Amino acid sequence: MESLQVITTADGSHSLLNTTLNETYHSVHGAIRESLHVFIDHGLRVAEQKQPGKNIRVLELGFGTGLNAVLTLIEAKRQHLTVYYETWELHPVPGSLISQLNYGNALGDEQGFKAVHEAAWDNEVGLIPSFTLYKRRKDLLRDELEGSFDVIYYDAFAPSKQPEMWTQEVLRKVTSHLSPGGIWITYCAKGQVKRDLASFGLTVETLPGPPGKKEMIRATLSH
Ligand SMILES: C[S@@+](CC[C@H](N)C(=O)[O-])C[C@H]1O[C@@H](n2cnc3c(N)ncnc32)[C@H](O)[C@@H]1O
Repeated sequence: MESLQVITTADGSHSLLNTTLNETYHSVHGAIRESLHVFIDHGLRVAEQKQPGKNIRVLELGFGTGLNAVLTLIEAKRQHLTVYYETWELHPVPGSLISQLNYGNALGDEQGFKAVHEAAWDNEVGLIPSFTLYKRRKDLLRDELEGSFDVIYYDAFAPSKQPEMWTQEVLRKVTSHLSPGGIWITYCAKGQVKRDLASFGLTVETLPGPPGKKEMIRATLSH
């Protein structure tokens, strides 16, 4: 059983601290700020610009507090995007902790945050007609992925805390599910991760990170 505590980050938004790993779910410099910068600005928006009007297939590892999912839902509503959002999570966060998180209020979408969490696990759920959410209780290290994705949000715990999620084998497995032109995006900036991604033939970019973090990685599969 994971041991989790609610914390407040620098932008006022909450996050969780996993006290077993001594690792937070988001940057202490601002959870919402980090997720917006990394996954929405440098992931989702870039995918949308590449193929405007296309149904965007997003894969997230792992779901955690649902912050990336609700931010993607909000962006989809604002920009009229059609999104299929599949997210994997091995240890779903208990509802008693989710109900303490201030994301609904901070983002002005209590209903969206609630809908993301009330959606059943292991079922495809249409939250709105243009947004399908598929939360899967799956283990990335053991279970097989299916299908291809335009954007992969790689939001595992840091390599120093959960190195098994960052091996060449696991990175190859995940990135082999990118569609042509697809984007794999993470907050991490580790050199070995960049070298592994490049060895798969992906185009690797080092981008400015969110507050408190100099750099982050984006890898793209060429057409
Ligand atoms: C950094 S947190 C994710 C934060 C999340 N994206 C959010 O917005 O709150 C990493 C997540 O990966 C999950 N995880 C750890 N090992 C996993 C595995 N083998 N398969 C799937 N998920 C895993 C953890 O339980 C945790 O929720």
